[in-house]
Amino acid sequence: MNLKKYLDNEFERALTALGQADATAVVKQASKPEFGHYQANGIMGAAKKAKKNPRELAEQVAEYIREGKLKDLLELEIAGPGFINIRLNTAFLCRELENMTSDNRLGVTRFASEKILIDYSSPNLAKEMHIGHLRSTAIGDAAVRVLEFLGHEVIRANHVGDWGAQFGSLLAYMDKLESEGAQLATELKDLEIFYQSASSLFKSDEAFAARAREFVVKLQSGDKKCLGLWSRFIEESIRHCQAIYDLLDISLTPGDVKAESAYNDMLDPTLAELEEKGLITLSEGAKCVFLDEFIGKEGEPIPAIVQKSDGGYPYMATDIAAAKFRGQELGVDQALYFVDGRQSLHLNQLYAIARKAGFISAEQNFRHIPFGTILNKEGRPFKTRDGGAVKLADVADEAVTRALSLIGDKNPDLTEDEKQNIARIVGIGAIKYAELSKNRKTDYIFDWDTMLSFEGNTAPYLQYAYTRIRSIFRRADTTPEGINHPFALIEAAEISLALKLLQYPETLESVIEDYQANILCNYLFEVSQLFMSFYESCPVLKADEATRGARLRLCDLSARTLQHGLGLLGIKTVEQM
Ligand code: ARG
Repeated sequence: MNLKKYLDNEFERALTALGQADATAVVKQASKPEFGHYQANGIMGAAKKAKKNPRELAEQVAEYIREGKLKDLLELEIAGPGFINIRLNTAFLCRELENMTSDNRLGVTRFASEKILIDYSSPNLAKEMHIGHLRSTAIGDAAVRVLEFLGHEVIRANHVGDWGAQFGSLLAYMDKLESEGAQLATELKDLEIFYQSASSLFKSDEAFAARAREFVVKLQSGDKKCLGLWSRFIEESIRHCQAIYDLLDISLTPGDVKAESAYNDMLDPTLAELEEKGLITLSEGAKCVFLDEFIGKEGEPIPAIVQKSDGGYPYMATDIAAAKFRGQELGVDQALYFVDGRQSLHLNQLYAIARKAGFISAEQNFRHIPFGTILNKEGRPFKTRDGGAVKLADVADEAVTRALSLIGDKNPDLTEDEKQNIARIVGIGAIKYAELSKNRKTDYIFDWDTMLSFEGNTAPYLQYAYTRIRSIFRRADTTPEGINHPFALIEAAEISLALKLLQYPETLESVIEDYQANILCNYLFEVSQLFMSFYESCPVLKADEATRGARLRLCDLSARTLQHGLGLLGIKTVEQM
């Protein structure tokens, strides 16, 4: 059950009964322990509208609630100019813990069923995935998992870039190698080297560059040979991406790829429609859309180029076709684009054009979910020593290697296999969590030592808290299913932990308000901290039979919540480390 919503409804009902019908979102989580567990702070607003004395109205609301169905479940106290502090009784908390425990969804109801498309990861296939792709990939994947869990129908859209000028040199290079008798399959093993060799030839060799340009035109006009080479490259590149998704526990599959090239057949008719609707202006030979809302610093209009002067279709054209497909064919309620903040002009132009052209309706929510850049410790964009892009595959490998040495130090008794497995889960968890636990809108500093620390708001800390709980059960030589003592909340540390656990449903709902995965991270961090203080102040295994049973159940619910929440972030847990 969503506790906040439940209380909120009751307070809204009270206000309605007292003649204040339009009050909403009255109740919030209390910001300080002395304010109780929740606080009704929307009463002042209601009183102002009704020209009533807020404290008097608060008294009336409290009186109303005290007589209603919650009367034995909570205590109310009027505070300040018209707040009501709400303290939930332990009987209420115990009843809810019982419900949460017996529910494999941990009390989270499926409350929604929109069709939501998430455009995420979407790398350009000409190059290997680099560290910059981690943000869209990790944050997008967490959003997908949370939305699906809450009941939405989610379409994963991996809008990979597989079309455009950079493929000219790749194809020309493939052609050259093949004519020299080289094995393409071997050459394509390291895509990054392949790409670098192709582009340096493009720069140094005039004849090669001319061939490369020729190949672009040939490719776009459907030349068989070019298409054959191209698809071999794309297949290899997608295989490479999929290996990274699998290693990183990203839920994307090859079936989620709908590449830019998949929209080729739509480009001509889409452009024709834009022309028909009078949206196209010719500017220096290129077909452009000018919209009033996009003007530069000097007041100059900013064009969106939909067809270049040489007839080629740019990024924008494919994106308009994709938006049309998503709006009209898929009929999505929402399309969320998890893309770097630097593309916000492009995406906002895209949505505006698609809307103007009638490709997406007023009810369909198309939205850019932006994020900042990953920086190094010096606060500059993350690069390799020679200024190149840091490969995502290398980052993942390094994370696992670093985790392996930490795990080895921490628990030398593990077998080699166990160490490898744990290191993978801890290392990958660490880099993803570092990403997810930051405010997505700002730049963040990529720092190995912080993210792999067993202290602080990190994946290893949360994974470690989980293993601590599992080890309690191992020592007790029992399983959670074997215990049926009722919950009992006596110590303050038990109550705080219980309340936090019960706030899982409302936490997930606030995660998707603005796609802030860090809300879930902070929540799980708080659960772990509250668990640790509970475990320090409340003996479990040494307590009397009934208390031990009740506390073991609280331990178990904490472990389940941690595991489930981490799962929604795409992070696994281990039984020991
Ligand atoms: N391939 C693009 C890039 O790497 C990102 C694509 C994002 N999605 C979209 N529909 N534009 O920058």
